[in-house]
Amino acid sequence: DWNSNNVIEEQVARIREQVGSARVIAGLSGGVDSAVAAALVHKAVGDQLTCVFVDHGLLRADERKQVEEDYVASTGVRLVTVDAEQQFLDALAGVSDPEQKRKIIGREFIRTFEAAAEALVLEARGDDEAGEVKFLVQGTLYPDVVESGGGSGTANIKSHHNVGGLPEDMTFELVEPLRTLFKDEVRAVGRELGLPEVIVGRQPFPGPGLGIRIVGEVTAERLDLLRAADKIAREELTAAGLDEEIWQCPVVLLADVRSVGVQGDGRTYGHPIVLRPVSSEDAMTADWTRLPYDTLAKISNRITNEVPDVNRVVLDVTSKPPGTIEWE
Ligand code: XMP
Repeated sequence: DWNSNNVIEEQVARIREQVGSARVIAGLSGGVDSAVAAALVHKAVGDQLTCVFVDHGLLRADERKQVEEDYVASTGVRLVTVDAEQQFLDALAGVSDPEQKRKIIGREFIRTFEAAAEALVLEARGDDEAGEVKFLVQGTLYPDVVESGGGSGTANIKSHHNVGGLPEDMTFELVEPLRTLFKDEVRAVGRELGLPEVIVGRQPFPGPGLGIRIVGEVTAERLDLLRAADKIAREELTAAGLDEEIWQCPVVLLADVRSVGVQGDGRTYGHPIVLRPVSSEDAMTADWTRLPYDTLAKISNRITNEVPDVNRVVLDVTSKPPGTIEWE
């Protein structure tokens, strides 16, 4: 019989056994999974853990602040933030293929964690706790394992950044306390651990971030457009009281597509934004959410008025399967 208390006890014991007295780092993405995984490890080994938040420039508006302020306040973990925007943009330059993007982002994450771990060792040199950081915590869930081809008899649908996207020469040993859990179970564990609702109740957001929500090459200008459109969609969905009803609503920029429009008295030749609201239990299957027309109209008006270079908003009405939730 499933119960979040049993899961916590069992995982805390396992983590202690796996890690011993070694030092551990945990990557925080701003999402629910990495937050709960790190909180579990913190409960198990306390300050042997250092959390690392990578600002890779593929984040949504305000995400960095939520991690640096809300998460640290509620857990008391040690946090290091790494500014890695240019590193990720350089690595992604010229790349449009979704799987290639995912692998590059997964690799750059690990390289960043390795550098952060090395810096920690240098910093700690001289005191007793000094020593190599051998372990990396990841918030991998059961569906991530299955869809990256790790489950039995399944094809590789997508290389989730934390499963199929890892570089082969990585030296960390992984600690993955959520590997057998589904999202609703992770939320229950997070609540039991005392994490605030703004974190456990948050809608899922993929580790590769906005990098896999730009169809085409990822550039700083395109990220700015998408971030602005995403912020508007989230504001309006929240204002309409729809956060409970939807599982998540990816906002996607079709950077390789242009269409003709008219704004003011001039012709435009801009990009479409796709809204992808879905309802789901566990992200393995999903249906598109029937959002009220008024809300859709508001989002569409605001995006086309406020976001430069976007002259069309379209709605994705595909279930999963056959579509996946994310476009890449
Ligand atoms: P798909 O697009 O496969 O997404 O239907 C299923 C769920 O997983 C999220 N997702 C990811 N989460 N790393 C993550 O942490 C990833 O690489 C990744 N790719 C997709 C997606 O947002 C949805 O909730």
